[in-house]
Order: sequence, then C-alpha cells, then structure tokens
Amino acid sequence: MKTKLLSPGEVGKAADIIRSGGLVGIPTETVYGLGANGLDPTAVRSIFQAKGRPQDNPLILHIPDPSWLERYCEDIPEAVWLLAKRFWPGPLTMILKCKRHTPDKQSVSHTGPWVIPEVVTAGLDTVGMRCPAHDICRAIIEAAGVPIAAPSGNTSGRPSPTSVTDMLEDMDGKIDAVVDGGVCQVGVESTILDLTCTPPRLLRPGGISLEELRDMLGEVELDPAILRPMGEGEQPRAPGMKYRHYAPKAPVIVVKGSPARSAAYILEHLSPTYWDGVICFDEFAGWYPGHPVECLGGTLDQWEQARRLFHALRAMDEAGVKRIWAQSPDTAGMGLAVVNRLDKAAGFHIIEV
Ligand code: TXA
Ligand code: MG
Repeated sequence: MKTKLLSPGEVGKAADIIRSGGLVGIPTETVYGLGANGLDPTAVRSIFQAKGRPQDNPLILHIPDPSWLERYCEDIPEAVWLLAKRFWPGPLTMILKCKRHTPDKQSVSHTGPWVIPEVVTAGLDTVGMRCPAHDICRAIIEAAGVPIAAPSGNTSGRPSPTSVTDMLEDMDGKIDAVVDGGVCQVGVESTILDLTCTPPRLLRPGGISLEELRDMLGEVELDPAILRPMGEGEQPRAPGMKYRHYAPKAPVIVVKGSPARSAAYILEHLSPTYWDGVICFDEFAGWYPGHPVECLGGTLDQWEQARRLFHALRAMDEAGVKRIWAQSPDTAGMGLAVVNRLDKAAGFHIIEV
C-alpha cells in the first residue's frame, strides 16, 4: 500500500478515508495517533494489525467536544463535566462506563446507532474518551462526524511518534495516509484518569499533572503500574501498562539522583570500547565526547524533556548504540510522565545514585 502524505489543507481527504474504513495517521498535541472510524469494527481491527498490537489492549476514542460523551457513555459522574470544562480540549483521557455492546458483525452507519464495537474496548465495560487540542485533529474528527479510535502511531512496543517523519518510519506502506501537523507540543501521551472508581485513579501520567488533578478532585490514587513493574499475576488497570513499551532496540539504564551526580555516574560507567549512547540534560551535553548524545532539555524544563524524549530514544536507534544511559528528572509535575516513560523504556532497570 502506498501511504499518502497529506497537508494540513487536506483534512477533508483524511476524513473521507476514515469514513470509508481506512487508516490515517493523525497529529494530536500529545503524539501522532493511528486513526480509524471508531464505530467500524473492521477498520478498528486493521489498527491492531498495522501496529502489531495485542488484541487485549483497548483503544481510546477521540471526540470533538464533551457533548459526545452521552452518546457512548453512561453513569457519567459529575466530576467528568468539571474536568472536561477545565482540561478539554487537552491531553486528558477519561475512562468511563461504556453504554452497551453489540456483536462485532453489526453493520454501522455514520450517524448511528451510536454503538461502540467490542473490538475498541477489548471487551471491557469501560471506554477511554479523549478530546484532543490540535486544530487539525479536531477538524478531521468534525469532518468525519464519527469518534476516531486512535492508539499512538508507533509499531507496538516502540516509542510513540512525535513528528510525521517518526510516524512514517513505523507506518509507511501499512496505512492509507498520514496528515502532517508538525511536531507534537506535549510529546508524551495523554494523562489517563479512571473515573469509574472512587477515588478516581491515575492510570498513566501525561500532559495534565497529578497535582492539577488533585487540586481539582481532592483525592486521586496512583495506579501502582506507573512506578514499578507488575508482579506475576498482577493486572494493571490500563491493559497497555503491562507491556514493555517505548523501547528502543538497545537496552536502557536509567540513572536517578541529583542531575550532577547522575551525570557523573554515567561518565564513570561509560565504556570506552562499547558503543554506549547517552540521553542527558542540556547542561551535561559536552560531558561525553566520542559517544552519541541526545539532549532532553534543561534540568528544570520538564515540558521540554517530555517533548524530546521519544525522539531521543528513536535517535539512539538510528545511531545504532549498543546500550543507552539516561538521566531522569524527579516526579514533580510533568516529571512523573517523563520518569514513567523512561522507566518503562528501561524495563525498570534503574540505578539510584
Ligand atoms: O495521547 C494519547 O492518549 C494518544 C493520542 C494518539 O491520543 N493515544 C494513545 O493511545 O496513547 P494508546 O492506545 O497508545 O494508549 C492508550 C492506553 C493503553 O495503555 C490502553 O491499555 C489504555 O489506554 N486504555 C484504553 N481503554 C481503556 C479502558 N477502558 N480502561 C483502562 N485502560 C484503557
Ligand atoms: Mg501507545
């Protein structure tokens, strides 16, 4: 299949492809997504195929405004409307009770019935809803007139794409088109908040911080899968959190501690003969001559670190390094999302200094 590269002016074409059951790479403010008509089970199945995604990992739906929630969800708690008012459009996905399922084979029309096929939710009775804050993405959803099911646009297990080039690296030849919407402004995937339990539970940290959510909701629990690997028999609430993720080809070692100490530790342990790469804060860019280095941004600029992280992991693959050493920020604010992605990329191979 030849993958068309569409310009921002070709939103209508992208929407047509989606309405007719095709797959389109769509820009969002977080990462690029791999979008299909969320009401069309056959189209949704082809997402799993293009990504090589395990069937038990549900997809989230992208909608243009909160009013669409009532079409697909029930028992919506009051807090959802407050969250939507404050954080939507934006990088927050809410897990809500899904209205009802019908068998996969049912024919769909574009105006109704408003039924989410089982393949979207992987059989769960809940569904993730997200209202993205990217003009092109919003225009595509509106023109398509259907909720767009979209996981991140990477091959399963790889770092999520934050530019059209990274998206094509994984999906060229496997999908109908990709729309160029520039570089993603957030750079890590949306915050996922489960609102089907009390207190609400953070399943994945992202562009809306835990502090912001607690500020508004009071108590918010942290799913254990965010900070540690799941033990045998343990199930994370977001099925996707159990897989190795965000991983470049080379093994990653995360070094935690004050930036000066972690930088020094990495310098001490870099092998002169082994092809080691380093992901570090800007302040330490000059410390590792002779080794491929990717800078994450300044030590205190967690937003920049989030924006650059996935591309840095991909760049290490391109450099062909054998092993990656990475500095890590602390978990305040956006730091939690960066730490979570780094820890998972490393398979929780962490050294505290
Ligand atoms: O920023 C984002 O959220 C991006 C852009 C494209 O919107 N999308 C994204 O989708 O990251 P994906 O599929 O890569 O990650 C969604 C995560 C997965 O870990 C999945 O297991 C979890 O959400 N998830 C989906 N539906 C769920 C549900 N009903 N209950 C719990 N977790 C769910
Ligand atoms: Mg993903």
